[in-house]
Amino acid sequence: MATDVQAVILVGGKGTRLRPLTLSAPKPMLPTAGVPFLTHLISRIRDAGVTDIVLGTSYQAEVFSDYYGDGADLGVKLTYVTETEALGTGGGIRNVFDELTADTVLVFNGDVLGGTDIREVLDTHRSSDAEVTLHLVRVGDPRAFGCVPTDGDGRVTAFLEKTQDPPTNQINAGTYVFRREVIAEIPAGRPVSVEREVFPRLLAAGRHVHAYVDDAYWRDMGTPEDFVRGSADLVRGIAPSPALRGAGGEALVKDGAQVAPDAVLIGGTVIGANAKIGSGARLDGAVIFDEAVVEDGAVVERSIVGFGARVGAGALVRDTVIGDHAVIGARCELLRGARVWPGVQLPESGIRFSTDV
Ligand code: GTP
Repeated sequence: MATDVQAVILVGGKGTRLRPLTLSAPKPMLPTAGVPFLTHLISRIRDAGVTDIVLGTSYQAEVFSDYYGDGADLGVKLTYVTETEALGTGGGIRNVFDELTADTVLVFNGDVLGGTDIREVLDTHRSSDAEVTLHLVRVGDPRAFGCVPTDGDGRVTAFLEKTQDPPTNQINAGTYVFRREVIAEIPAGRPVSVEREVFPRLLAAGRHVHAYVDDAYWRDMGTPEDFVRGSADLVRGIAPSPALRGAGGEALVKDGAQVAPDAVLIGGTVIGANAKIGSGARLDGAVIFDEAVVEDGAVVERSIVGFGARVGAGALVRDTVIGDHAVIGARCELLRGARVWPGVQLPESGIRFSTDV
């Protein structure tokens, strides 16, 4: 057991890119392959032998403690520290300092779905005797991420947030190991970005920041496209999660859902508890939250249908986010990044992309 290690998970962001779903729940609590996203991450941390976990909360802080309590159901000890004003990623880490007793502190962004071996990240931190170790992952297009070059010994040489001309395909994967005393150096009581301020300053001062680089499964769940893909990857067993033993089918149907026998569920689709899927409906890579309804003959592809929402008969919903309790009238067509706000009611055939009726 790694008893000399504590974990911190940053879960205080507003999740603006996932609106309107994040108006009613913080991003890490959105159902992902049947459980709140955060359950996958906490389970991974626990399975790496780290059971003392501090959640750095801000936006909708009470939702976390109401659901997880002291963490005993997941076999961990959870402590909550809430920012009255959002302090950003670095400020959020600094704000939990009083709860830190271990010398080694693992820090996670609360929205990363990953398959990295957390024990190996810790081993690298110890064997290199670094002050901070960053988990880096190699990706095809690093431009949208923090790009992090390293030297031949594995030391980090620069931290370039979202650059158009990246010198390497190694990106910041949002998991860090800090020596506790380095966290004390982060300015307290004001917003601080770990990516834009803390890491660049440590590097400018010549401090020892090391890298653990791999090609493990990795996805930032911050956008609807990534959320849908990550959820489907969990269902299909492509993304590993100890909270989902035995995953690996085309669909996951939660208890109490009613699915018509001739409905087609493929592509890692999830049907939430007490949801209803009508006859002839076709769902491909769909995320259907609890209590939602998809009526006869509707098609839902790579989309999220919010809690208690309804997709009318024959509707087409593709690459779309539908807010809680919204009603999409029969034969509507919603495509390419559409977002329907909670409770909105679209009349039958009210929005279409084709001219036939
Ligand atoms: P967007 O608004 O869509 O960018 O999402 P976000 O607010 O979650 O921001 P981002 O994805 O950059 O955040 C990365 C991680 O840090 C997420 O797990 C957030 O919950 C967390 N985070 C972001 N800002 C704060 C903050 O001010 N305080 C705390 N405690 N966590 C934060």
